[in-house]
Amino acid sequence: MAYSYLFQPLTLRGLEFKNRAFVAPMCQYSAADDGIPTDWHLMHLGSFATGGFGLIIAEASGVVPEGRISPGDLGLWNDDQAREFAHIADFVHTHGQGAKFGIQLAHAGRKASTYHALPGYPEGSLSPEDGAWTTLAPTDEPFGPFDAPRAMTESEILETAQAFADAARRAVDAGVDTVQIHAAHGYLLHEFLQKDVNTRDDRWGGTDLENRMRFPLEVVRRVREAIPDDMPLMLRVSAVDWKEEAGTEAAREANDADLADITEFVRQAAAAGVDMVDVSSGGNLPQPQVRPVPGYQTEFAAHIRRETGLPTSAVGIITDAVQAEHVIATGQADAVSLAREALRDPRWALRAAQELRQDIEWPDQFYRAKR
Ligand code: FNR
Repeated sequence: MAYSYLFQPLTLRGLEFKNRAFVAPMCQYSAADDGIPTDWHLMHLGSFATGGFGLIIAEASGVVPEGRISPGDLGLWNDDQAREFAHIADFVHTHGQGAKFGIQLAHAGRKASTYHALPGYPEGSLSPEDGAWTTLAPTDEPFGPFDAPRAMTESEILETAQAFADAARRAVDAGVDTVQIHAAHGYLLHEFLQKDVNTRDDRWGGTDLENRMRFPLEVVRRVREAIPDDMPLMLRVSAVDWKEEAGTEAAREANDADLADITEFVRQAAAAGVDMVDVSSGGNLPQPQVRPVPGYQTEFAAHIRRETGLPTSAVGIITDAVQAEHVIATGQADAVSLAREALRDPRWALRAAQELRQDIEWPDQFYRAKR
């Protein structure tokens, strides 16, 4: 059997992932009323579990109702939601040949209260007739054409950090193997980190990075305390915001500045108990100057891994087995996360194992397809 980096197990704290092919969180805009997972989510996440992936992370799930992107998002602020997550966790554990299950805990900040991002829905903020709610953010500056948020008070900041911890505890009770804190894509935690967005003049923001990190690090600390010691804690960051035209010197400078801040944040998050970081990009600008090409974000994962020593996963147009193998073999990341390619082929990891000549376990029901 040929050697494969992708199919080497990875251990974080007390948890072993059978391989390094992970599924990134993907909103399905298919929740029942009140953020409850449905059969769609069981099918969506279950298909990845039976498709050979080592870790499947459920979509951004609001830690409070107003933290959802849209009314179709999942939530984890009550026990009815947790019960349905438990059903999915059971499925993954029963049928996933050792696959692990995680949940991304999220608050959409000033990018909340939108329509479902699906064909047939308008773009942008919900209208009042469609149930718009007041969004919360570091300041009252809107995101592009979205409705303006309200700047959070100090007590709202602390309550929100606690809501992350409460949701994490519910996730643990539901049987997840790990939780991922969403600090990427221009949602609340990333809004606090980005200096152009978080222009507060108190200890939670402004020009001082320590102040801008205070809330996201508070979230990390509280979530870490809420989950068992042997459970790994994941984090997702946006390394850069693509402020200048990709490929230019100006872009390099702007990206380097963002990357320096985020690298420092990851370093401190690791000290506060994060075990792995998934490195994405973008989200704070309505029109980022990015040209997505295969592997366009792996250099950021590599930088953060090198500078902080924290295990990373790389994401962004990673679509084939050899490419995934290369990312890990060259030390850019410890794992890869796939989103759209996993939607196209939920059995991607089984196929990758064949391509890389790895004799892994398949679901018995599929054995006739195994070569
Ligand atoms: C996403 N993405 C995403 N990211 C995240 O952190 N939380 C989420 O809930 C979602 N939701 C979501 C839905 C859908 C349908 C897509 C396609 C994407 C971003 C995703 O996890 C990933 O970072 C990007 O899609 C880039 O990876 P790929 O698609 O090039 O493998």
